[in-house]
Amino acid sequence: MTTNATIAVLPGDGIGPEITAEARAVLELVAQHAGHSFSFSEHLIGGAAIDATGQPLPADTLAACRDAHAVLLGAVGGPKWDDPNAAIRPEQGLLGIRRELGLFANLRPVKAQPLFADSSPLKPERIAGVDMLIVRELTGGIYFGQPRGRERDSDGTGEERGFNTMVYSESEVRRIARLAFDAARKRRKLVTSVDKANVLDTSRLWRSVVSEVAGDYPDVTLEHQLVDSCAMRLITAANSFDVIVTGNMFGDILSDEASVITGSLGMLPSASLGVPSGDDALPRGLYEPIHGSAPDIAGRGIANPLATILSAAMLLRHSLGLAKEAAAVESAVDAALASGARTSDMLSTAESGSGQASQALSTHEMGALVCKELQQQL
Ligand code: IPM
Ligand code: MG
Repeated sequence: MTTNATIAVLPGDGIGPEITAEARAVLELVAQHAGHSFSFSEHLIGGAAIDATGQPLPADTLAACRDAHAVLLGAVGGPKWDDPNAAIRPEQGLLGIRRELGLFANLRPVKAQPLFADSSPLKPERIAGVDMLIVRELTGGIYFGQPRGRERDSDGTGEERGFNTMVYSESEVRRIARLAFDAARKRRKLVTSVDKANVLDTSRLWRSVVSEVAGDYPDVTLEHQLVDSCAMRLITAANSFDVIVTGNMFGDILSDEASVITGSLGMLPSASLGVPSGDDALPRGLYEPIHGSAPDIAGRGIANPLATILSAAMLLRHSLGLAKEAAAVESAVDAALASGARTSDMLSTAESGSGQASQALSTHEMGALVCKELQQQL
């Protein structure tokens, strides 16, 4: 069956344009070989958008994303726009698009690959078998709660105060919990819900709603864990997790921690999903690598495009319903790696110390190799 899809590409800043170009080429190849029709349009976001328009999320970018079946994003931010006190910042583009498209669920799969074991900061036995999915609530909690702001002398002491509000409603917790339980059903059937229920009221609500949702999933085991001890368990026993579900800020922090322990940050994709809509009930989504804009290597054509290519695979699976094609892209990446292909980040980490001298591929060479492998798969 032919799928017609509109895909908005937001290259963003730093290495964003280089890596999204390779992921787009992979998607074009999928369309061509599997008989689908994808139409692409590119738009500004983040620092690039601030420079061109004064806004991190210009109206025409948002309109194009609203009209698209899926959004493929590179990365936003860089030293040029780094002043945290600036009123307009690249990150607002990302937060704005999540809010405006209702992308409430952020999925970050973290899987250890033996290939990268050497570059993990942890002992090999600690990362062997790590295979988890972090489900982070993305449009609520303290990152979006009101009131927020800074005010001077509100209490007559002459001091300035800064404040944010951590708030979750039952329905917000329920929908992210359901998504996590549904995901666990297709995996090892364990959900770890992470909160700070010993201190925070919002966490106590979180815990009770997640427990209530668990009643509908008798085949899935639920455990609750406090965020501080979860941070430790990620270091000591990461392979004991299957699906982690948590709120916005805890998920932001824990997912960065989890992604670095596998030693393969340049390989990790993510999906941010909205509420399914339309006849086929597929969620709209935004897909991006977990790593950032890497300004230090931007424009040199040496960035690793694999996390973005794997994000494109998630796009095919989650927003276009093309599971077979998604698996083909993932196999093509595996095949490229199995053939010994490495970008420079992998050589400086995965193979330093092993004494093996391999030649680093450029961003485009790695993308082209994945395309070549993909032709065998499709
Ligand atoms: C992420 C990023 C963003 C977040 C920033 C850039 C706003 O760190 O996607 O995790 O904190 O959500
Ligand atoms: Mg983050």
